[in-house]
Amino acid sequence: MADSTGGDPRPDLATELDAAGVRFEAHGAVATVTLNRPERRNAMTFRTWRALARIGDSLPADVRVVVLRGEGPSFSAGIDLSMFSGGGDEGFPDGEDQQAGDAFIAGLQAGYTWLRRPEIVSIAAVHGHAIGGGFQLALACDIRVAADDTKFCMKEPALGLVPDLTGTKPLVEIVGVNRALELCLTARTVLADEAARLGLAEYVVPRDELDTTVTDLTTALLAVNPGAAVATKRLLLEAPDNSLEEQCAAEGREQLGRLRELSAALKG
Ligand code: CAA
Repeated sequence: MADSTGGDPRPDLATELDAAGVRFEAHGAVATVTLNRPERRNAMTFRTWRALARIGDSLPADVRVVVLRGEGPSFSAGIDLSMFSGGGDEGFPDGEDQQAGDAFIAGLQAGYTWLRRPEIVSIAAVHGHAIGGGFQLALACDIRVAADDTKFCMKEPALGLVPDLTGTKPLVEIVGVNRALELCLTARTVLADEAARLGLAEYVVPRDELDTTVTDLTTALLAVNPGAAVATKRLLLEAPDNSLEEQCAAEGREQLGRLRELSAALKG
C-alpha cells in the first residue's frame, strides 16, 4: 500500500517493527502479527503499540484475517515494567496539557482499534500469560483461541493504573459490568477453563493444537463470501448500540447491498 508521499512505506515499517520487537507477515488474505520479545515475555512499550498502529495503517487491502500471536512462553506480560523506572524506549508524558495527553493515549490505542475493522476478522492466538495490555490486546480481537495454559489477568488496578488500551468495553460486553469489576479490581488470574465459561475465549485447546486450530478457523473464515463477511461484521458490531428498529433497518440496508452485488455478479 502506498503512503501519502506515493512511496512504499515497507522498508520504514520493517525497521520500526524490528525495533519494537514485532513481526509482520502477510500471505494473500492472511496476515500474522507476532509479538517477538520472548526474553521479556513479549512485554510491550509505547514503541510496540505505535508499531501495531502502523501495521493497521499499512495493512494490504487483500488481507481478510489477521492473527495475533506471541513468541515464546507467553502471549504478552503487558506493559514493559522497566518503563516505570525510565528504562523503556521513552518516558511517560508529563505536564498538564490535557489535549496532548489525550492525543498521546489515542496514538497508543490506535494499535488496538484497527483490529475491529469490518474488513478483517482478527484472531488472538493466546497462550501462557496475557496480562494487562496483553489481555487487552486479546480483547481487541474478534475471536480468541486460547491454549489450555492461558492465564488472563487485568493487572492495571493492582499497579495503580486503569486498563486504557481499549479493553474495558469488550470486557464489559463479554462478561457484564459486575464480573468485569470483580476481575479488574481483584486483578486475579483467569485460567483457560474459566475464560471459556465466561466467554473470554471462543475456543480452548491443548497447547500443541493452538496453531492448527487457528489455521482451521482461518480456512473456515476465508470460505465465506468476502462481501458478506464484511457486511455481517459491520452489522454485528452495530447491534449492541442499536435499537431493534435501527438494527432491522441496518439489516435491510446491508441485505439490499448484498443482493445488488450478487445479482451484478450473476449478470457478469
Ligand atoms: N516488563 C518487563 N519485563 C518483563 C515483564 C514485563 N511486564 N514480564 C516479564 N519480564 C521479564 C522478567 O523481568 C524476566 O527478565 P530476566 O530474565 O532479565 O529476569 C523475563 O521477562 C522472564 O520473566 P519471568 O522470569 O518472571 O518469567 P515467568 O515465566 O516466571 O513469569 C510472568 C512470567 C508471570 C509474566 C512474570 O514475568 C510477571 O508477572 N511479569 C510482570 C507482569 C505485569 O505486571 N505486567 C504489567 C501489566 S499492567 C499493564 O499492562 C498496563 C497497561 O498496559 C497500561
